[in-house]
Amino acid sequence: MDKIGTDITRAASILAQGGLVGIPTETVYGLAANAFSPEAVVKIFEAKKRPLFDPLIVHTHSLEAALVFVTAIPNRARKIFDAFAPGPITILLERNKEKIPDLVTSGLDTVAVRIPNHPVTLNLLQELNFPLAAPSANPFGYVSPTTAQHVQQHLGAEVDYILDGGASEVGLESTIVGFEDGKVIIYRLGGLSVEDIEGVVGKVELQVNSSSDPRAPGQLKSHYAPGKKLYLEGSEPKGSDYSKAAYIGFDNLHKDIKPENQLLLSKGGNINEAAQKLFAALRKTDALDVDIVISAKFPESGLGMAINDRLKRAAG
Ligand code: TXA
Ligand code: MG
Repeated sequence: MDKIGTDITRAASILAQGGLVGIPTETVYGLAANAFSPEAVVKIFEAKKRPLFDPLIVHTHSLEAALVFVTAIPNRARKIFDAFAPGPITILLERNKEKIPDLVTSGLDTVAVRIPNHPVTLNLLQELNFPLAAPSANPFGYVSPTTAQHVQQHLGAEVDYILDGGASEVGLESTIVGFEDGKVIIYRLGGLSVEDIEGVVGKVELQVNSSSDPRAPGQLKSHYAPGKKLYLEGSEPKGSDYSKAAYIGFDNLHKDIKPENQLLLSKGGNINEAAQKLFAALRKTDALDVDIVISAKFPESGLGMAINDRLKRAAG
């Protein structure tokens, strides 16, 4: 049987039996398993070749359902969820250790909770009596998938089924937020902008730059990387051969690179459109006959901050 399809009942039954399913979300596709089952969750780490110290996000359909596996939902978390969930935001909450196995959180006291905004996956979650642990459905270190075909390309042999929900609309992983000493901290920039979050809870602190903190290995420096060496525009080696370079730009072509090797993310200069297309463009550069990839620097506001973050990490 074809592994890609739209059969939610089939996906639910595979998950109930401890299998792995690729799921669509508005950010990127996830590689999902029963979050209450260590036997199911370990398959995620094996499929992705992901180190066990890198904790997973737990996906659920509502705050009420989340109350089963966290000890409490503090007021500020509730405010953020009320404003943006379902949506591209993940919040670190205190874990109910009876429900969420150590493997899911790498033994941390917190669990990352997300309510994804995709009708197919929300329907799926409603059919299940457990939440879904799901990292992005890419091999560890590679670019995240934004279509069912991307999942098939690299993890087709490892998954039991891939639910096709079309291309992810946001295109960047969720923004990860937590609380420390009364402060709101952003641990990963993502599909919900800092400005939007500050509009609801006031000033936040960014802690997105450390590269060795096991609390958010998504912060690992070399991550989201395509097969070709990537440079931020201006930092490519002197004397680079532009006839063998690809360009990922915003709305303007690079003057020295062949037009057929250039991928503009939004000709109209729309930053949300650029975010939506970024990962597919990075993947496309793998197939081009070039030696290096050069990327533009995007405006540092709205989703531009998260785009620049991913490009910096891809550059390593
Ligand atoms: O948009 C998304 O968030 C996607 C879709 C599939 O939901 N998922 C995703 O998962 O990006 P993943 O595993 O690729 O990234 C999850 C990040 C990792 O960097 C991990 O370290 C961090 O979340 N994380 C998970 N649980 C955590 C926790 N308890 N404390 C701190 N960081 C945590
Ligand atoms: Mg990931």
